[in-house]
Amino acid sequence: MDFPAIISDKKYGRALTDEQIAAFAKGAADGSVPDYQLAALLMAIRLNGMDARETASLTLAMAQSGEMLKPNVGGIAVDKHSTGGVGDTTSLVLVPLCAACGAKIAKMSGRGLGHTGGTVDKMESIGMRTTLTEAEFLSQVQRIGCAIVGQSAELAPADKTLYALRDATATVDSLPLIASSIMSKKLAAGTDGIVLDVKVGSGAIMPTYEGSLKLARAMVDIGHRAGRNVTALLTGMNEPLGSHVGNRLEVKEAIEILRGECAGPLLTVSLKLGSYLLVAGEVAKTPEEGEKLLTKALQSGAGLAKLRELILAQGGDDSVCDHPEVLADAPIITSLCLPQSGYIKAMDTTLLGYASQALGAGRRQKTDEIDPRVGFIMHKRIGDSIAADEALCTLYAKDEKTLAEASDMIRRAVMVSPQPCDKERLLYAAVTHAGVTDFE
Ligand code: URA
Ligand code: CA
Repeated sequence: MDFPAIISDKKYGRALTDEQIAAFAKGAADGSVPDYQLAALLMAIRLNGMDARETASLTLAMAQSGEMLKPNVGGIAVDKHSTGGVGDTTSLVLVPLCAACGAKIAKMSGRGLGHTGGTVDKMESIGMRTTLTEAEFLSQVQRIGCAIVGQSAELAPADKTLYALRDATATVDSLPLIASSIMSKKLAAGTDGIVLDVKVGSGAIMPTYEGSLKLARAMVDIGHRAGRNVTALLTGMNEPLGSHVGNRLEVKEAIEILRGECAGPLLTVSLKLGSYLLVAGEVAKTPEEGEKLLTKALQSGAGLAKLRELILAQGGDDSVCDHPEVLADAPIITSLCLPQSGYIKAMDTTLLGYASQALGAGRRQKTDEIDPRVGFIMHKRIGDSIAADEALCTLYAKDEKTLAEASDMIRRAVMVSPQPCDKERLLYAAVTHAGVTDFE
């Protein structure tokens, strides 16, 4: 295959053939095309886009660049995936709740990336194993209804190469490249039902509603073309979803929710995503029925009991479910106030994510070690009033240097207005192949 000709076609904005796209994915996976040619094509795609047929073709070629799993779990296997957020701990809330209702969740999760957190890091922060053999993974789903693992290197290897190159060439923010990256891994993981949480707002990969809707539609379309049942929910990310940001802190909040000790936006979004997962897994007929089942599992304690099973099955210590407060501990614990009083008007949620990374909760480079203890708990949301001597958040830091750096970022990330402000919208819409349903 003449690779410069492929680059040239996309340079002039022409649609690529399935054969050209297959050569691209294969070249990325097996190293037969040099990085500079792959990178040039990535930039041409970033600038000139891809149509729906090309995007689906790229996704399938990336998925088929490695192993294609077919999870046999004695029922309909379902998975859920978020496009990435801050304080976005929905998986640890909804996976146990859905499994307690009888769903079979075979979940592949990622690590923290840039300003966003990852479920695998959160699980490891309490000593859970996130690499299981395929046989262990499937038998755990059959036995207790759920398992969460990190993505194995054998799944969609083309994405591994392309993602690293995108990161290094400023080509991450491309709709066809994001859609194909996420969906290639989901198609290779082989679950029948997939619920996507597509974030909207200042902490999202696509900040505007219009951009997020386009991304949601593209991923649903890819799933449809591949014969999978995909639903995408558009949910708010103009501020951290939960109040807790940081690995052990986020596990603490998930446990407190399952203990019935707190509610709020993290629970609201988890129940909404979970209700669609129960429909995809044919446990419920409608999302409304699904939400009722999930609420029952929450109130009866069945969700918390399932989280204990999940923690134990993956090598963790479930005593954290009895004493979640032990998960909020770091060498320095201190509160942060703002210089002015007023109302919280807006947050740069991406910058808040980077503040968490600066504390050591995320990685700057792939090889960085994360500190499971650090992060912050926000005491205010958009629309809340705040007095000048009132704590905006409590910080958990490992040393004074990272504390100072993160404090400065958080102060810059939060905008205060003298006038009262509206609360943020949390739930926008559900996107399926049939169309878009607005919430509210
Ligand atoms: N998550 C992914 O896996 N890939 C992207 O391109 C963006 C978010
Ligand atoms: Ca295998």
